[in-house]
Amino acid sequence: MLGICYYPEHWPEHMWQQDAQEMKALGLRYVRIGEFAWSRLESTPGNYHFDWLDRAIDTLAAAGLQVIMCTPTATPPKWLIDKYPSILPVDINTGSVRGFGSRRHYDFSSPDYLREALKISEVVAKRYGHNPNVVGWQTDNEIACHDTCHSGSEHAKRAFQQWCKNKYKDIDNLNSAWGTVFWSMEYQDFSQIELPILAVTETHPAHQLAYRRFSSDQVIHFHDEMIKVIRRHAPNRWVTHNFIPMADTQTDNHALAKNLDFVSYDNYPLGRSDLFFAEAPAEKFKPYMRTGHPDYASYAFDQSRGISKQNFWIMEQQPGPVNWAHHNPRPEKGMVRLWSWQAFAHGADCVCFFRWRQAPFAQEQMHAGIKRNDNSKAQAWYEVEQLNAEMARSNLKIGSAVKAKVAIVTGTLNQWVTEIEIQGTSYSQLEVEFAYYSALRQLGLAVDFVSTEDDLSQYSLVVAPCLPIVEQAFVDNCKNSGAHLIFGPRAGAKTNELSLVPNLGPGLLQQLIPIKVLTTETIRPDCSESMTFNGKQYESSRWREELELSESVQVIAIDSSNQPMVVQKGNISYIASLTCDEFLQDYFESIANQVGVSTIRLPKDMRMMQRENLTFIFNYSSQSQFFPDETATQLGSFVLGSAELAPFDVAIIEHH
Ligand code: GAL
Repeated sequence: MLGICYYPEHWPEHMWQQDAQEMKALGLRYVRIGEFAWSRLESTPGNYHFDWLDRAIDTLAAAGLQVIMCTPTATPPKWLIDKYPSILPVDINTGSVRGFGSRRHYDFSSPDYLREALKISEVVAKRYGHNPNVVGWQTDNEIACHDTCHSGSEHAKRAFQQWCKNKYKDIDNLNSAWGTVFWSMEYQDFSQIELPILAVTETHPAHQLAYRRFSSDQVIHFHDEMIKVIRRHAPNRWVTHNFIPMADTQTDNHALAKNLDFVSYDNYPLGRSDLFFAEAPAEKFKPYMRTGHPDYASYAFDQSRGISKQNFWIMEQQPGPVNWAHHNPRPEKGMVRLWSWQAFAHGADCVCFFRWRQAPFAQEQMHAGIKRNDNSKAQAWYEVEQLNAEMARSNLKIGSAVKAKVAIVTGTLNQWVTEIEIQGTSYSQLEVEFAYYSALRQLGLAVDFVSTEDDLSQYSLVVAPCLPIVEQAFVDNCKNSGAHLIFGPRAGAKTNELSLVPNLGPGLLQQLIPIKVLTTETIRPDCSESMTFNGKQYESSRWREELELSESVQVIAIDSSNQPMVVQKGNISYIASLTCDEFLQDYFESIANQVGVSTIRLPKDMRMMQRENLTFIFNYSSQSQFFPDETATQLGSFVLGSAELAPFDVAIIEHH
C-alpha cells in the first residue's frame, strides 16, 4: 500500500480535485492530512472552521482515496500561546524560554497545554471520528522531536518533584538510592529538588537518570491521554504515531507505542545519515552520500518492527533533497524506489511519501515533493509510478511477517546511561549498536530488535551490544532462552540507579559467565591496540576492560599484552572491548555457524532480506553486482529483476 502526506490548506481549493485524481492514478491509497492545521481549524478561541476540511476530505474521497486524520497539536497557534504563555518550554541548556514561531513549542508538563491539546483533539475526533472516509488517525507529529522531551520550566520542576515523591515516598529513600551524600547534595524535602540543569559542572548521574525517566513519562502520559480521546470518538479506527529514532526524542519508544495499533516511522535516510555519520571521514561517507549506508534505513525499519512486535508503516518517506540536515544531497535515481522496497522487505505494510508538492513558501520550501512547486513531476513521481506497477506483480502480502533467528537487545535505558556517563567521548551507544547490527546484516541475517522483557526462546543468537543495567528477570530470561548470547562491554555494570554494581561488572550476568571487570579504560579511537582472534589481527579500541576469569571460562581473543578481550563459557560470550567491523563480522559468523544459523557473504553494498516467501535483494552500489546464482536457484525464482542487479536496483525472489 502507498500513501501521501498532503496539506490542502497550502494550496488554492481549485487545485484539490486534480491533485486527488493524480494521487489515485499514481497508485496512492492513503492521504495523511491535518497535523499542522490548528490555526485554520480554530482561528480564535472556540471559533472553529471545518467547512474547508470537510470539502478537502470529500474531494479526496471522491477520487477514491482514504484519509488519515491527525491531531494538530504539534503547532499550537499564536492566540493560544498569548493566552497561556507558560505553555512554552524552557531550554535546558540556557534556561531561556523557547518562543513561538516554528513548531513543537509546548511543554509536556504544562497543565494548560494538556487540557487545550485534548480539547482540540476531541473537537477534531468528534467531527471526523465516524466519517467513513477517515480510516485511521495519527497522534500529534513526531512527538518530542526538536529536543522537546526535556523542559526546564517551573511546571516541569514541580511535576518532577511529585514524580520523585511518588517513586521514592520518603526523601531519605531518595537520598540513599541516589547517593546524595556525595558533594553535600542531601535533601530534607522533595520540594528542594531542582532539575539537573544549568549547574556549574556535571550533575548527579542518578538525578539525571531520574529526570530522563520522568521526562519520558510526561511525553507518554500526554500521548496516552490523546489516544484515549481519539478512541472515544473514532470507534473502529486505528491509531498510529509517526516515530523517529529515540536518539532524537529521548522518549521510551516502547512505552510510547503501547496503546497504539501499530507504529509508523518517518524515513529520511539521507537527512538522518548526514547527522548520524557527521564525524565519518569523507572516504567512508561519500560513497553513501546519495544512498545512505546500506544498513542505515533498515536499522530503523527493524527497530520500528521491534517496538510493537509487528509490521509497521512508513508515514513519511524522503522523496528528494530535504532541507534540515547539515547538507542535503539529492538521492541517486532509483533510491526512492529502493528505500520503499526495503521498507516493505523489513515489514512495512504501507509507505507514504512526504510530501505531495514542494511548498513555495516557509521553512520547508527547499524540501522536495513528488511534484515541484510549479506542479511538474519530480524524479520521485516516476519512481513511485514504477514501484506501484512492480508491487502489483510482486506477490507481497499485507501482514506477511519477517521471521528472524537473530535478535539484538535494545532499550532506552542503554542510551540514557551512556549519554549521562560519558567516560570516553568516542563511545557512542548508537554507533556501537549500529556496528553490531551492520555486521549481522552483512552476513545476510535478518535481525529483530527486542527488549529485555521479550521472550528470547525463538532465537538462536541474541546479541546485546550495550546493556549497562541488567535486572534479575532478564538474567532468568537468558537462562531460559537456549540461544547463544553475546554481550558487549559495559554489560551489567550499573545498578538501576546508575551506581556501580557491588560485585563488579558484569554484575548479575556473572550468573551466566563467571568473570569480573577489574578496570575500565577508554582510549582515543586513533590510538587503538591490536587484538588476535583465530590467528587474525583486529582492533581493540575506545573502550577496553581488564577481565578476571574463572577457570571454566575460555579465552577467544587476546590483545597485544595477552589480556583476554573476548571470552566464552558455553553459550555465553562477553566482548570486553570495542572493536572493528571486520572482527564483528568474523566473530558473529563463527558463532552463527556454530548454532546452525547459515550466513552468506554478499558482495559489498548488497543486502538481502526475507519476508515470508519473498527474498528481497538490494544493490546500494553504483556498479552492477551479481547475487550468487546457486543461492538464487536454491531459493526460488525471480518475480522482479534478476541475479544481476544494476546500480541502486532491487530484485525479488519468490520461494519455491
Ligand atoms: C519530518 C516532519 C515533517 C517535515 C519533514 C521534512 O520529520 O514530520 O513535518 O518537517 O520532516 O523532512
